[in-house]
Amino acid sequence: MATISTYCPQFNGLRRSCPNLHTNNSQQSQSFLQHINSQLRLASSSSSRRPCRGAVTAMAGSGKFFVGGNWKCNGTKDSITKLVSDLNSAKLETDVDVVVAPPFVYLDKVKALLTDRIEVSAQNSWIGKGGAFTGEISVEQLKDIGCKWVILGHSERRHIIGEDDQFIGKKAAYALNEGLGVIACIGELLEEREAGKTFDVCFKQLKAFADVVPSWDNIVIAYEPVWAIGTGKVATPQQAQEVHVAVRDWLKKNVSEEVASKTRIIYGGSVNGSNCAELAKQEDIDGFLVGGASLKGPEFATIVNSVTSKKVAA
Ligand code: PGA
Repeated sequence: MATISTYCPQFNGLRRSCPNLHTNNSQQSQSFLQHINSQLRLASSSSSRRPCRGAVTAMAGSGKFFVGGNWKCNGTKDSITKLVSDLNSAKLETDVDVVVAPPFVYLDKVKALLTDRIEVSAQNSWIGKGGAFTGEISVEQLKDIGCKWVILGHSERRHIIGEDDQFIGKKAAYALNEGLGVIACIGELLEEREAGKTFDVCFKQLKAFADVVPSWDNIVIAYEPVWAIGTGKVATPQQAQEVHVAVRDWLKKNVSEEVASKTRIIYGGSVNGSNCAELAKQEDIDGFLVGGASLKGPEFATIVNSVTSKKVAA
């Protein structure tokens, strides 16, 4: 498979050492300095990070590492009780936001059994206030049971259920206005990647969120190439980083520099206990959205704890 850099040479993985995205020299040197500063941010200088003398973080953004477990339509009362118990006894690094998204029918139970260390998320929500909408779950109901997040725009809802950008945007705007955090998913199909349309697709999906959301304070962007979801075919760290850096640049140009810096851009698609450390080392990967591997407590804990591989020797 051709890599994305073939299609878009300006994002060829050299951005960090060759900041040529800017048009004039003073902008260029300023941006370069900002870049160096963010790259060399001392772990101990950020309140959201553990003090770690002599270490720097390989992190371009300023947001806290975020790992979500998307349980999808999996599990039974028994298996979910076991998973929650494994999560409750897992040793998790402190400087990570950890969220799990159980199927709706188990959400309340999981919220009640799970330690406060881990937040719960829904996998979907209705576009507005609840009422006569058979089969739907409202944001108000989610808030009522203490749910803090919702996953929206997941590729399985886009491509299997048929949700479009506009519908997803409405859901996101409503959820954010009501105070839920949104894990906003974007990502290209294999044929779109092969046609060189990865960035076009991701930017269009991003714009649909940007056009309607009231603020970016409570949004985490999940880049999930569709060809990598549930296939065991993970994006290489470079392929993921190239899109993440492009997404951050898009936010910078189309929203603001502040939003670009603070918004977590997490990667999803066949992340597991063996590949998470290499992915986490990429500067613009601020965490993960995990499907299959989040159904195993110890493996999910390993993925959460991959935050440690962001810290590199000074
Ligand atoms: P996967 O799913 O980890 O099983 O590939 C990721 C997702 O769909 O969020």
